[in-house]
Amino acid sequence: MQVFHTIPEMRNFVRQARAGGRSVGLVPTMGYLHEGHLELMRQAGKHCDVVVVSIFVNPVQFGPNEDFASYPRDLERDVRMSEKAGVDAIFNPSIQEMYPAGFCTQVEVGRITEKLCGLSRPGHFRGVATVVTKLFNIVKPDRAFFGQKDAQQALVIERMAADLDLDLEVVTLPTVREVDGLAMSSRNRYLEPEERRAALILYKSLQQARELYRAGERDASRLRRLVAAMIATEPLAGIDYVEIYSYPELEEVAEIQGPVLLALAVKIGRARLIDNIILE
Ligand code: PAJ
Repeated sequence: MQVFHTIPEMRNFVRQARAGGRSVGLVPTMGYLHEGHLELMRQAGKHCDVVVVSIFVNPVQFGPNEDFASYPRDLERDVRMSEKAGVDAIFNPSIQEMYPAGFCTQVEVGRITEKLCGLSRPGHFRGVATVVTKLFNIVKPDRAFFGQKDAQQALVIERMAADLDLDLEVVTLPTVREVDGLAMSSRNRYLEPEERRAALILYKSLQQARELYRAGERDASRLRRLVAAMIATEPLAGIDYVEIYSYPELEEVAEIQGPVLLALAVKIGRARLIDNIILE
């Protein structure tokens, strides 16, 4: 496995792979890898001849009061884990390499970014769409792999790829969870033991919603209220949002008829955790 820090080196590697007729899969990440990332890499390996993983904590997708500075980083560990997962190359550029002096172009996806995390994190999806566009143009993957854990992000990338006629396939894969149900996230590292226990309320409340849905509940606002009430029973949890939108359009729903996304963002200690399920 090779590790590249510059765009020309990365481009050169991919150019050679392509010249040999090999397909290229890209897994964009911000590092501090966990099983959720590794599963994306393994799946990429099943579907593509060459797997490239980018590791870049993208400053432009963090708000001024967010955790960019403290976001966990450990490249050595990430390199070891990626190698084991069968990755062929890591792209780990510096901020300077990605955003040199004079940089001033942004990619803005409309409508579906105007809710959920787009409301609580202004500019976040602009930063994501911009960096992912750059990564797509640098690596030119045949397929790019994203996790359902960040359901809105995956929709934003799919929308952007369709709207801008990007010549690649966006693949979204299921959320990987800890044994007790907590969705894996690099940010789980922020949780103190007591908070880690409290964080289970996200999964539990989603499970309860699924049961209610199975029992016939179709009133979206009632379901939202029940989920919010359950999260509120956990004193360490502060709700950012609990929302239900049609999936994948992300439009308002009163009565649930087709598939919907039930999405949560909850603050526990220093961590802002998100999770979601699709009810259909
Ligand atoms: P990061 O949070 O590192 O996540 C990288 C990819 O892993 C994303 O597609 C995310 O949805 C997926 N992922 C994270 N946790 C997962 C889990 N528990 N199960 C399945 N997939 C999971 O998302 C980002 O980085 C950045 O916004 C990025 C797309 C790299 C742009 O900077």
